Amino acid sequence: MNGLDIVERVLFSSEDIQQRVQELGQEISKDYRRGLGQDARKRPLLVVGLLKGALPFMADLIRALDIPLEYDFIAVSSYENGTSPGEVRVLKDLERAVGGRDVLIIEDIVDTGHTLRHITRRLWAREPASIRICTLLDKPHRREVEVLPDYVGFVLDAPWFVVGYGLDFGELHRNLPYIGALRPDLITD
Ligand code: IMP
Repeated sequence: MNGLDIVERVLFSSEDIQQRVQELGQEISKDYRRGLGQDARKRPLLVVGLLKGALPFMADLIRALDIPLEYDFIAVSSYENGTSPGEVRVLKDLERAVGGRDVLIIEDIVDTGHTLRHITRRLWAREPASIRICTLLDKPHRREVEVLPDYVGFVLDAPWFVVGYGLDFGELHRNLPYIGALRPDLITD
């Protein structure tokens, strides 16, 4: 099945996403340029992408940022592979040290909040200067633990399961250029 067969409707077109990414890029660049950064040694912002879902968003967002930055990745297991939402497993950790640095975490979607709570706790233990969170999508009504993203692309209030632009259903459909709501009849549990 291709994208349009599995999508009930397109929620955010490729153009919608690119426009919002540019807006976020300007906002984030302005914030860090104006001195949000607390890194006493004035090192570049460290942008941390959560694999795999954040990859397309991060690739576009970093090119919309006009501030010095480095980037790195953390890979976390999704709870679809036999784990419950409360469990988060780190499959690949950062290569860069974060002590004393400004860190901006890039996520595809915040749902229950367990993933980001786990990752932010883990990173705070390494004593960065600051941590902020930028997520493409936010489902605040689904939150089980408190996570407040600093930058949000779009808020999803309806109970859609979404695919595309990095978001998967059974590892598929990450390559769709838009974000679509999955057809409800395809969701079995
Ligand atoms: P959380 O720990 O419940 O906040 O889950 C975050 C992760 O769940 C995201 O990074 C996605 O991998 C996955 N996820 C949550 N909602 C969706 C969705 O609507 N579509 C695709 N993946 C989702």
